[in-house]
Amino acid sequence: MCGIMGYAGSLNSQKIILTGLSRLEYRGYDSAGISYQENGSLQLVKKEGKLVNLENAISKIKIKSRIGIGHTRWATHGKVNDTNAHPHQNEEFSIVHNGIIENANQLREFLQTNGHKFKSETDSEVFLELLSYHYKQNQNIQSSIFKAYNEIEGNSAFVIMQKDSHKLYAIKRSAPIVCGLKQNEKEVFVSSDPYALMGQVDNLYFPEDGVLIVADYLSSKRLIFLEENETPSSRFKLQKKELNEEIISKGNFDHFMHKEIHEQPLLVSSLVEHFKKDYKDIPDDLFKGVRVVHLVSCGTALYAGMVIKNFIEARSDVKVLWDFASEFRYKNHRFSTEEVALFISQSGETADTLACQEICKEHGLKTYSIVNVEGSTLFRNCDYNFLSYAGTEIGVASTKAFTQQVLVGHFLTLLFLRQLDYEKVALDFKKLASAMNKILDEEDKIKQVAQKIYNYKGFIFTGRGIQFPIALEGALKLKEIAYVHAEGYAAGELKHGPIALIDENMVNIAIITPDLYKKTYSNAQEVKARKGKMVVIGDESNKELEELADYFIGLELTEDLKVFEPLVTNLVLQLLSYNIAKLKGTDIDKPRNLAKSVTVE
Ligand code: F6R
Repeated sequence: MCGIMGYAGSLNSQKIILTGLSRLEYRGYDSAGISYQENGSLQLVKKEGKLVNLENAISKIKIKSRIGIGHTRWATHGKVNDTNAHPHQNEEFSIVHNGIIENANQLREFLQTNGHKFKSETDSEVFLELLSYHYKQNQNIQSSIFKAYNEIEGNSAFVIMQKDSHKLYAIKRSAPIVCGLKQNEKEVFVSSDPYALMGQVDNLYFPEDGVLIVADYLSSKRLIFLEENETPSSRFKLQKKELNEEIISKGNFDHFMHKEIHEQPLLVSSLVEHFKKDYKDIPDDLFKGVRVVHLVSCGTALYAGMVIKNFIEARSDVKVLWDFASEFRYKNHRFSTEEVALFISQSGETADTLACQEICKEHGLKTYSIVNVEGSTLFRNCDYNFLSYAGTEIGVASTKAFTQQVLVGHFLTLLFLRQLDYEKVALDFKKLASAMNKILDEEDKIKQVAQKIYNYKGFIFTGRGIQFPIALEGALKLKEIAYVHAEGYAAGELKHGPIALIDENMVNIAIITPDLYKKTYSNAQEVKARKGKMVVIGDESNKELEELADYFIGLELTEDLKVFEPLVTNLVLQLLSYNIAKLKGTDIDKPRNLAKSVTVE
């Protein structure tokens, strides 16, 4: 949520910052801005709307600057407009911020009574003025940053630039900051996301909370880490990682989301090789004595977890209790020594998920993650991580990350049951990949269904058992990218209320697979009897389903694919949502009001 990019070095900063911001735009796109030093003074350009508005504004100015900071915003405090866009700047400093300052109102009042004037409605500007307040008194930027940092409440990351200085400063609390450099190059980078630094750096540094980064491209060290008493800090992690220029173009696809949906068979096929490499030395006692797993995540990642719950509970007597991270964190917990916690996250930066991991850790629980971004905060904080190897996911709506999370969950279940046979898993994944390829090859059939239903106002997705989380995920995907009302329901729950919504204007997308077939089929008939428009997803050889459906999406559901049926039906729903959204002409990769990683509560 919100993207931050800072650069200081021998090259022109503006181009580098804009490139970084273009990679971060998926984190927020309400507005974008850039601040830079020119002839000793701070300059500022910021624009409401997508990054292209900022790019157009900048193209009219000739900028020659070695140092600057930029930001893409996902609004929290204050309307979406030019003034509330970041950076925030006064005579002395310019800052960018990601997060929320919870005591902003009290601090603003205090600062106003001390003569400080505010231009924006944001909490971020409060940090700027607080920093200036301290700086006026002690003329020491480092201690002023620490003072302001200690006075704010909540999770935040800041990058700060001072007029007439060649240094950048950064500090964070439970929000991501990464800085980086390349051997022998006179330049330093700081960002909220390693992805923005791809191809620019070969060393990445992840500071811990409360460590001040001083990025000075003219000093021999270039990056200095300081504790509050301004002594050197060793509280940071270095990742010497070659950040490949991944495929960051859409290729032949119109949208990243579509490309990412189509990447899935390849990712599925290569997952076992990653497992083999990563888990060579897996500790024997990794899951020893586990009786209860708390599965805590948000959104799509939680739905992947609900599928995994089915995997584990169907095959063992371990209990899996799932919860939304935003609920779990405020509950009164009592844990026993037989309980552990599993967090699932694409970004590894979701604020609520991170807070829950901390709570579990404080209670002495072992914490595990299924996470896509290596080096993310969740990755660094958990006791043990299972990487999901989905590659970079740019489309804001999660697709391939879900599939990989579920497959890692399958792998974990086998590991837990001590039934892991790599050859069998490789074969199963291969079969799944080929079933997925078949669906992708026949996307036109799904497109035709999309054409028939895209103008309807309401959609109810139904499924039972292991398909229930898929109904939830299908509805989530449709509402986020097509902006239509969609609900996911356990099929048997319809008659307890939602069936009142059914008439000829409502579409029921019914997932009716062989599992619990008769019950789910009856529920669909109940909808049909009330004139609901039926889209049915089920076994292609089933004539009964074909008759029931207004539009039938038949799949080859073989017995050996059974365990992966949720991934196959989910792929159909991903394509259906994508094609509906395309017909509606929405901004599929950057749906309104959303951002890729939700780093605020
Ligand atoms: C929906 C979506 C979100 C995320 C959720 C958690 O398409 O992407 O629901 O799944 O915000 O994000 P991560 O997985 O990064 O923790």
